[in-house]
Amino acid sequence: MLDHIRDHAVEILKINDLGNYTVPTHGLYPFQWNWDSALSALGQSHFDEARAWTEIETLFAHQWDDGMVPHIIFHKEDDGYYPGPDVWQTGRAVPTSGITQPAVAGFAVRRLVDRAKDRDQAQQRAKALLPLISRWHDWFYANRDPDGEGLVAIIHPWESGRDNSIDWDEVFERVPTEGVGEFQRRDTQHANPDHRPTQEQYQRYIWLVQCFRDLGWDNSLLHDASPFRVVDPGFNGILLRSAMDLADLAGQFGMHELATHERARAAHGLAAMERLWSETHQQYLCLDRVTGSLIDSASVGGLLAVFAPVDPARAKAIAKRIEAIADKVTFLVPSHDPQDARYDGLRYWRGPAWLIVNYMIADGLSAAGHEGVAQRIVDTSLKLIGQSGFAEYYDPKTGEPCGGREFTWTAAMVLEFLQKGRPAA
Ligand code: DGY
Repeated sequence: MLDHIRDHAVEILKINDLGNYTVPTHGLYPFQWNWDSALSALGQSHFDEARAWTEIETLFAHQWDDGMVPHIIFHKEDDGYYPGPDVWQTGRAVPTSGITQPAVAGFAVRRLVDRAKDRDQAQQRAKALLPLISRWHDWFYANRDPDGEGLVAIIHPWESGRDNSIDWDEVFERVPTEGVGEFQRRDTQHANPDHRPTQEQYQRYIWLVQCFRDLGWDNSLLHDASPFRVVDPGFNGILLRSAMDLADLAGQFGMHELATHERARAAHGLAAMERLWSETHQQYLCLDRVTGSLIDSASVGGLLAVFAPVDPARAKAIAKRIEAIADKVTFLVPSHDPQDARYDGLRYWRGPAWLIVNYMIADGLSAAGHEGVAQRIVDTSLKLIGQSGFAEYYDPKTGEPCGGREFTWTAAMVLEFLQKGRPAA
């Protein structure tokens, strides 16, 4: 059974491999996505280390001059996806989107180095990537933390990767639905519309893209211009974990200035995370940077923050919270509190479980000493695969597979879980 799962995972990574980048899945997502790529490289490293490095290098070959790494790189034409390059109009030679995604690359590079069999290759390729990743981190703090709070904001829900989370509902009311014009969605032709964001949410997504486009994609203007400015604990947790990992690697490679810079940034950010803690929910929450208030929405974003080395008391509370949630679902970790009336187990980020999030939460909990709950997350993840295949996401109560199929990062995470010798419960 485990051999079969492993073989199938490798097959998916190969089917979705277009040479020097990997598509998340054919049809629904026909280009290179930022955090998909960095996490997928971890899966590739189990059978082809050189190819894994190429995946991340391709991503950084499309870094903007200001340091941003875009969330989509449109390597080739494909009208099966909306919004394509003609909507973004970012003016790049190889077209890209104009927003970013969770900064998981620093973590991924550290992990590739840690486990590399070809040590020389790893050192050489990682050393070339480190300054590029650090420039991206600099970009975040320069453009998304203008007051130096130590926490960065996202300015579009797509940046979080958790596109239609309940976290955004209230803030999203500020983004108009009118005036965007007619457009033809493609996602609902590839996936069940009941598993995808609503039409109204799409109108707001596109309104924001048009607003930023009208400002010429000048990142010095976009943060203040966006009616959607949210500090997401999961997004910040990933960035801080990457900063720590980059600092450790830079230290190993004798790049001391970079190491000190990233470590100082991480220390500042980890202290600032306290601002996002909710005593009521016993987890982190998003902060609406426009009003300065925490958003009353207990999503997985506030649990994912444990991927960073947060305060041990906070990590312990998150472990307890996940144990309590485990009594309400069969498969961990739902993307929203299943006891919240707004929970929807089938609709994208409003309830379904995602393996990449499970992987990062389990990794953080394990590092914080909560091995039992981390193992439970891994066990139910593998059980899901055995029952429902390599889907994009799953209903946490029934295990129903949702969204795209034969999904790259799901396969990559399975290889990661199996590599640790975890049993399929
Ligand atoms: C989509 O198109 O669904 C993506 O999540 C946006 O990046």
